[in-house]
Amino acid sequence: MDRDLAALTSLLPIATPNNGGKIDVDDLVAATACVLHTDSSIRPSLGLVALDILRRVFGENAVNTVQRFLGIQTRSVQLADYQEISINGLASFVDIRGKTILEVGSDEGGNVLVALEARGVRFALGIDIWKRKDWFRVLSKKLVQAHGDVLSLPYRDDSFDVLLNIATFEHIHNLDMTMREMHRLLKPKGIMYAQFGPIWSSAVGHHIWCHLDDQIFRFDDPALNPLDDFDHLLYTRKELAEKLAKSWDARTVEHLVRAVFDHSHINRIFHHEICDCMRQSPFEVLRLEKSWDISVPSEIEQRLRDRHGDRSDFSCAGMQIVLQKGDS
Ligand SMILES: C[S@@+](CC[C@H](N)C(=O)[O-])C[C@H]1O[C@@H](n2cnc3c(N)ncnc32)[C@H](O)[C@@H]1O
Repeated sequence: MDRDLAALTSLLPIATPNNGGKIDVDDLVAATACVLHTDSSIRPSLGLVALDILRRVFGENAVNTVQRFLGIQTRSVQLADYQEISINGLASFVDIRGKTILEVGSDEGGNVLVALEARGVRFALGIDIWKRKDWFRVLSKKLVQAHGDVLSLPYRDDSFDVLLNIATFEHIHNLDMTMREMHRLLKPKGIMYAQFGPIWSSAVGHHIWCHLDDQIFRFDDPALNPLDDFDHLLYTRKELAEKLAKSWDARTVEHLVRAVFDHSHINRIFHHEICDCMRQSPFEVLRLEKSWDISVPSEIEQRLRDRHGDRSDFSCAGMQIVLQKGDS
């Protein structure tokens, strides 16, 4: 059988629900190339096979997106500062040229992936859990985005050279299990790189990001942030509600308190718990450091320590973490 057809056919196991099959990333690369008809050595009929497989694996939306993509040749990259810092940070640890990369928590526009392609990666897959189940985009013959939970990805062991996480670790629940799964997905000697913040134990770690009617609340804009620094750590729910009630009506107070303590979009893990989790992971720790530092007034620092103990660094608002998988 034709090698490409064999590769595509091996995608079929996960088209059948609940069979536990794993995808070989090289097959995904082959399927992507087939669908895009960009590789002249691939027969057009294989493109149809690939479309059929992608339809079954990722849903009808995948096919529509792929078809819309055909004909688009170039994309401009608009990276946010923190994304650029992260990509430069990653590139300072590993030469990403020719590498296969998994980006966990892929931005809506795929800008990080496009920037990775410009730096010469072989193939990059971006996955994201908050997107629709049938979210699937082929951005180029080297770039794919798909819905996915890093805890249950259908890829074989040792699939990727690099795992990239930008502004994602503060949102991932079950960080211990995530580290084990990332270790499984990485090739021996592979690198796991993460840049993220704010950390829950930092001044704006509540990460408030919500709206009520036409009122918008944002942690990263002082004009839209209804909380003072560290309010989420210095007050209980009841105390915070009492404090907010001096400025807001009851409905808004309830909305804000829920956003701070209940929304599932952040994991509420303290700085020292993140450090413990990384050190206890199956990886070798190459870097575990602050990348964003804020000064904490000594009176606040003392109140934080009284409530939460001495182990966390409350001045740590962002982190850079680099881990490596062993070679066997
Ligand atoms: C703040 S966004 C960052 C997005 C992007 N990396 C950027 O640079 O803007 C965090 C992303 O992490 C994703 N995420 C959280 N938990 C995840 C998980 N278990 N698996 C995959 N993605 C996850 C969310 O869906 C969200 O899109």
